[in-house]
Amino acid sequence: MFKDFFKYYKSKEPPPDFGAVIDFKKPDYSKVRNILPDVNEDEGVAQGLKPIKEWKIYGIISKPGLIFIENPFTTLGQQYWITRCVRDYSSKPNKTNLDLHNLFTKHENWWDECSNSAERARTLLPKLRWATLGYHHNWDTKEYSENAKDSMPEDMMKLTRCLAKVASFHDFKAESAIVNYYRMNSTLSGHTDHSEVDCEAPLFSVSFGQTAIFLIGGLLREDPADAIFIRSGDIVIMSKSSRLRYHGVPRILAADSTPWESESSKDITQMKEKFSDWDRIKSYICESRVNMNVRQVLRPGQTSLDNNSP
Ligand code: SIN
Repeated sequence: MFKDFFKYYKSKEPPPDFGAVIDFKKPDYSKVRNILPDVNEDEGVAQGLKPIKEWKIYGIISKPGLIFIENPFTTLGQQYWITRCVRDYSSKPNKTNLDLHNLFTKHENWWDECSNSAERARTLLPKLRWATLGYHHNWDTKEYSENAKDSMPEDMMKLTRCLAKVASFHDFKAESAIVNYYRMNSTLSGHTDHSEVDCEAPLFSVSFGQTAIFLIGGLLREDPADAIFIRSGDIVIMSKSSRLRYHGVPRILAADSTPWESESSKDITQMKEKFSDWDRIKSYICESRVNMNVRQVLRPGQTSLDNNSP
């Protein structure tokens, strides 16, 4: 049962044995297989990605439609997307879990407030849990609405369009996203993502920072689950018969590598010029994980939730 696997990997005492966790850095070909990209040319490749011919793409044999792309980002790409998640996607017009608490005036936002005072940062940094973008996911009704919608960031749309093409989904359109923010003791319990009108369209899950144990189960809570290591830059695509599987994050582990760290001084200079607060963002990501969970809400050709055609 999903919850037994969740409890097992969450446990601190006794600690779990991670031996059965699927590790795409050491692929076990009795469980996983290679997938070839559907496009090879880099035309239209989104911000911060390596050339497609260098990507390693896998499927899990027992979970058709579940696609794993091992970190296809350059170092600068990692820095770019981490900065977007931490500094930008946590700001207005996006909604966050902090909105209900009236912590900021109209002109303040979480990241600026954390940057302004070390004292404020200590209490505020761990409090951010999620931000919603585009069609805002309503956590109570689990429904989207035309009355709770903002525009999606162009770069996120372009990134997922590119990932979709590589994975043979040629008409994907990013219309909603949840950015999840995890500290080292955070978890995300088992759930399915079924609020979208179009549950045929794939869901893209792009993670940065510390490592997660990601659990992917079946269509029912009673089904068993596989555990996967997800490291910084790794991408999970849930599609076809895996689109509605139970999934969750029972544990965050300290990263075994830091692919967001530049070694070349040229990169460091370029990054400092582009993002003046990279040093602070780097300290945040050294004890956090961020996950962009991007969905299509409408059916292809449908223009609004109020209009059910075609
Ligand atoms: C989610 O399912 O919403 C997030 C999964 C993750 O953080 O990897």
